[in-house]
Amino acid sequence: MQLELTEEQRLIQRTAREFAERRLAPHAAARDRDGQFPVEELRELGQLGLLGVNVPDEYGGAEAGVIAYALAMQELARVDASVAVAVSVTNMVAELIAAVGTPAQRTAHVRRLVSGEALCGAFALSEPQAGSDPSAMRTLAERVDGGYVLRGTKQWITSGDRAGVLVVWAMTDVSAGHKGITAFLVKGGAPGLTVGRLEEKMGLHGSSTAQLVLDGVAVTDDDVLGGVGGGFRLAMMALDGGRIGIASQALGIARGALEAACRYASEREQFGVTLWKHQAIGNMLADAATWLDAGYLLTMRAAALKQSGQPFSDQAAMAKLYATEKAGAICDIALQVHGGYGYTTDFPVERAYRDVRVTRIYEGTSEIQRLVIARSLLGRASK
Ligand code: CAA
Repeated sequence: MQLELTEEQRLIQRTAREFAERRLAPHAAARDRDGQFPVEELRELGQLGLLGVNVPDEYGGAEAGVIAYALAMQELARVDASVAVAVSVTNMVAELIAAVGTPAQRTAHVRRLVSGEALCGAFALSEPQAGSDPSAMRTLAERVDGGYVLRGTKQWITSGDRAGVLVVWAMTDVSAGHKGITAFLVKGGAPGLTVGRLEEKMGLHGSSTAQLVLDGVAVTDDDVLGGVGGGFRLAMMALDGGRIGIASQALGIARGALEAACRYASEREQFGVTLWKHQAIGNMLADAATWLDAGYLLTMRAAALKQSGQPFSDQAAMAKLYATEKAGAICDIALQVHGGYGYTTDFPVERAYRDVRVTRIYEGTSEIQRLVIARSLLGRASK
């Protein structure tokens, strides 16, 4: 695996870092406090190419690859994890449509997504009773002349109330299990699509998480994405890539927290000694730095495999499992190093601690990542 970054990857990384420092950092804490969705910020990210980092140039993307995407996500999440998750889902949706959409679907949706014109994308798979097990979904796509009518409820949909383009999964054949699931393209504000409730969350206050009610949303045959009955496979494919994005988000949050902890530990003195020189503190920071690097390497390996067109499902699961679990531990250490101050909103580690928690849950819980890894491991061993 090539560890050296290319000039283009460095450029994307620098672009994201500069934007995060200049545009996101000054108001990240206020957005979190007030629950403000980053509308202007997303539009500007579209202009910078960061909503379609791995999307082909012919559809308006930056075509800079998966490694560049993972780097950009880390830089954004280091400063504002709420912005990062909206960016991550938009990239995932744009990539999916660019990869499997018809020419008309690509023309209609991908450019709008990556430019920021559609503001952001949403991935409407989960339901109130079907989270880890999406094949248990109940949303129905009833066949009508020339298309379908969608009825059901989607749950935990990141940016669901804001997205200009949504991929919505529904059952076209309930008797066929996961082979009866189809993905549809739906525009934000489509008649029959309403927001049921916006979740009040522990963290990521600048990101919205919506319940969506589909009450007779009409779609045409041209809105079927990737073929009738092919939706489950599409969701799995997209989530494999999405997991690289969430691993990167977790790494970015953890890096921001670790940097803050190192700063604090270098400035503060206790018992007449700089904090980090107390072995108890230095050891915690050393462990955190090591976990962060290991998570980075696992994530970059998954990104490199995806970028070169090789299977990467297991590696993405390992990257997400490790990076998100360790990112949680790193944020915990960062808060502990700050002592009582870390528990207040005066220091950024308090937000990092809350924001990082969900990375172990969305786009596949840690338990699901272990299931993916174990199935692959035992499958290989029995061959
Ligand atoms: N790529 C392509 N195809 C895949 C695949 C993959 N990674 N994984 C499975 N498949 C295919 C299988 O080959 C199989 O195909 P056939 O029937 O043709 O043989 C089919 O899918 C079913 O596979 P399984 O029997 O393995 O499926 P399963 O029901 O046991 O589930 C699972 C597998 C990995 C546990 C899956 O259910 C899963 O990933 N669950 C977690 C869902 C998830 O991540 N949800 C998050 C939603 S998005 C979100 O968080 C919101 C947001 O906005 C951020």
